[in-house]
Amino acid sequence: RRVAALISGRGSNMAALLAAAEHPDYPAEIALVLSNRADAAGLAHASARGIPTAVVESRGFRGDRAGFEVAMEAEFARRGIEIIALAGFMRVLTEAFVARWEGRMINIHPSLLPSFPGLETHARALAAGVRLHGCTVHLVTAGVDEGPILAQAAVPVLQDDTESALAARVLAEEHRLYPAALAWLAAGLVRVEAGRALVSGVGM
Ligand code: GRF
Repeated sequence: RRVAALISGRGSNMAALLAAAEHPDYPAEIALVLSNRADAAGLAHASARGIPTAVVESRGFRGDRAGFEVAMEAEFARRGIEIIALAGFMRVLTEAFVARWEGRMINIHPSLLPSFPGLETHARALAAGVRLHGCTVHLVTAGVDEGPILAQAAVPVLQDDTESALAARVLAEEHRLYPAALAWLAAGLVRVEAGRALVSGVGM
């Protein structure tokens, strides 16, 4: 299946997807890396690996989210994109766009959802005093960070943790989890029942 990875910045999760997709048995090809910012560091990484890139600057659309999405979808159409993997993409999508890609769009979020949706997840986990934190891959639905959960990984929160130490511990798990979850979706192993994602052949 042909996948577009959508980024806004560093792109380390996108890089993890590219690395996984280099294996011949991997069921997805990253056929496009699209950024809504021309200065996203991840673009250079993708280009260096010969992956097509596109920039659709959200700034240029002045709040016209539907117009921005139509411009992105023109790029998807050019590349025959079938699945979207949000990878640090910092724009909220319209309900109409989400509906068009329902079941075919996933996101990685740096917390154990439903705890800590939104931003600043590591600082909020530290402030809450939780002992476990982590990351979640979920199908994207209209509510931000609310879609059916495909996979999660947990890490311990240590007594003397800093936000950056905790973020790095979570990020290492993100890089492991995201390629696995995308592979399930691309291989057609995921179905949704009563708002929950079921993954065939995976006992978790
Ligand atoms: C990651 O922590 C991801 O979970 C969140 O934004 C961050 C993006 O990092 N959605 P990167 O651009 O993939 O390095």
